[in-house]
Amino acid sequence: MKFFIDTANLDQIKEAQELGVLDGVTTNPSLMAKEGISGRENILKHYVAICNLVDGDVSAEVIATDFDGMVKEGEELAALHEQIVVKIPMIKDGIKALKYFSDKGIRTNCTLVFSVGQALLAAKAGASYVSPFLGRLDDISTDGLQLIADIRLVYDNYAFETEILAASIRHTMHVIDCAKLGSDVMTGPLSSIEGLLKHPLTDIGLEKFLADYNKGNS
Ligand code: G3P
Repeated sequence: MKFFIDTANLDQIKEAQELGVLDGVTTNPSLMAKEGISGRENILKHYVAICNLVDGDVSAEVIATDFDGMVKEGEELAALHEQIVVKIPMIKDGIKALKYFSDKGIRTNCTLVFSVGQALLAAKAGASYVSPFLGRLDDISTDGLQLIADIRLVYDNYAFETEILAASIRHTMHVIDCAKLGSDVMTGPLSSIEGLLKHPLTDIGLEKFLADYNKGNS
């Protein structure tokens, strides 16, 4: 399972990278705005800065919502750095853009996916990643994890190569549940990754080991 961090914050990306288990980064226009990054040039520079911090894929989202605009923007993003994956919204022109980029060998991440039907379309169009937003489904009393399970079933039925990127992960249990369901990737905040570390018996056990060592070596 690949671990991506869902942020445009360079300090958090660096911290996750230093942990040694990071496989990539996802961003979106809201996350860029949260870091105060605005203006086309600054946004493009920020994507390059992220690519220079990590080894893996970095999703960069187009703003255009028409086919020609998405193609123009996506090509500009892809040319920035070999690690860039062009993030395309799940809309009609987005499907056309996914197919266009797939035919050109440019990698894509289809975002804002909330149903199996949308995920099926994204895979048919050749998306490299599909991003079901499980937290946002949970927010409206709909089972986000069930969507991950359903997409897994459909993709396995037809051996689609599109990777399931569980997005809108809110906490550590989402990560564990997605791993059980066979999600290829998860993207979430650093806290959702660091939560995997925690167990009180580990802390108690380590404390005892060190106390016993100190008894015999002081
Ligand atoms: O990057 C897309 C997705 O992960 C957004 O998550 O928490 O805003 O629903 P969230």
